[in-house]
Amino acid sequence: MKILFLDQSGKPGGAELCLIDIAKPYGHDALVGLFADGSFKELLLQNNIPVEVLRTEAIAVRKESGLIHGLNTLRQLLPLINKVVKKARKYDLIYANTQKALVVGAIASFFSRRPLVYHLHDILSTEHFSQTNLRVAVNLANRFASLVIANSQASKTAFIEAGGRQDIIEVVYNGFEPKNYQANESNIKRLQQNLELEGKFVVGHFSRLAPWKGQHILIDALAQCPPQVTAILVGDALFGEQNYVEQLHQQVAKLELENRVKFLGFRSDIPQLMAACDLVAHTSTSPEPFGRVIVEAMLCEKPVIAAKAGGAMELVEHGLNGFLVAPGEPQELAQAIVTCLQETEITATIAKNAIINASQRFDVATINHQIAQLLSERI
Ligand code: UDP
Ligand code: GLC
Repeated sequence: MKILFLDQSGKPGGAELCLIDIAKPYGHDALVGLFADGSFKELLLQNNIPVEVLRTEAIAVRKESGLIHGLNTLRQLLPLINKVVKKARKYDLIYANTQKALVVGAIASFFSRRPLVYHLHDILSTEHFSQTNLRVAVNLANRFASLVIANSQASKTAFIEAGGRQDIIEVVYNGFEPKNYQANESNIKRLQQNLELEGKFVVGHFSRLAPWKGQHILIDALAQCPPQVTAILVGDALFGEQNYVEQLHQQVAKLELENRVKFLGFRSDIPQLMAACDLVAHTSTSPEPFGRVIVEAMLCEKPVIAAKAGGAMELVEHGLNGFLVAPGEPQELAQAIVTCLQETEITATIAKNAIINASQRFDVATINHQIAQLLSERI
């Protein structure tokens, strides 16, 4: 099957990293069409996935935009839609991986007479999106998509609650290659030395810097933990959240935590960095649609504390393969961190359960097989 994948982002967020794993098995039968240039294109090339930037200037990714903005965007999109229609004629299927890709893909699917699949990576609720964007996404999916793949039950439920058709949506979790998360002991030691983490109890936070990812909750929690507890914040502001970055630095200064919080920026060595941590914290203040970092921490055999909402509740069973705490509650997070620090045996058992469980549930080969099966049955 020849697939034209579409994604609006030039930067590698979780949806884009997931797309790499899905597109890879199709080799040269796949083309990823991007609506913006950037480091995501380089990542696709490194993975030998054919890629083309279909539009050189980025489309503003504004999740809270209104109707007028929507119509203007549509007008701006016409040349892009035209390009996609022409490309799609050489492929069997259009696979939209983001919301703007859905808009373009739906119209292109109509004109090129190619079926459309929409991979839904978001919880379509007003906590994350404007009413207009919600309505556009749901109506286009209902009318044009043969299949919607939701990244979790939580994303599926929100889609249906927003008016989405129940008969077109299936849940498929993100897939991972477990062996990519096995780190080498001497590399870990070197990394710990370079980052001056030796002798500390290191809490890792791995996420783009954005208010709803809740890095500020971890910083507040840290202020309530014993002094050997240190945090590394791995990730950058991918979608223009510079004010939030400023706020985080100010918060660290105000709490006098400069020696206990390190901002590492965007990194490509996530498994190694996770291996250098004692635990991984996930602190999203709005429901997380899936939460790749949670599974990645499990595959690194690290205890993970996740915010109890959305997809995270499908990944973590509290006390069995991780810990769940109320979102937006630094005190509860601090207590959970201290439990991990003190109860080392129980925590190690939980981390062991996590790696076994995650290696089975999220194995990329099984997940890709599931997707191939759905495409062959539904298209
Ligand atoms: N990530 C990364 N480098 C960083 C920070 C994060 O490669 O510096 C990766 C992380 O390992 C994960 C993805 O970005 O695979 C984020 O996905 P997630 O589903 O956790 O959240 P999203 O940002 O997609 O909402
Ligand atoms: C989105 C979601 C994230 C999910 C990722 C992959 O970026 O925000 O929760 O893990 O897609 O599906």
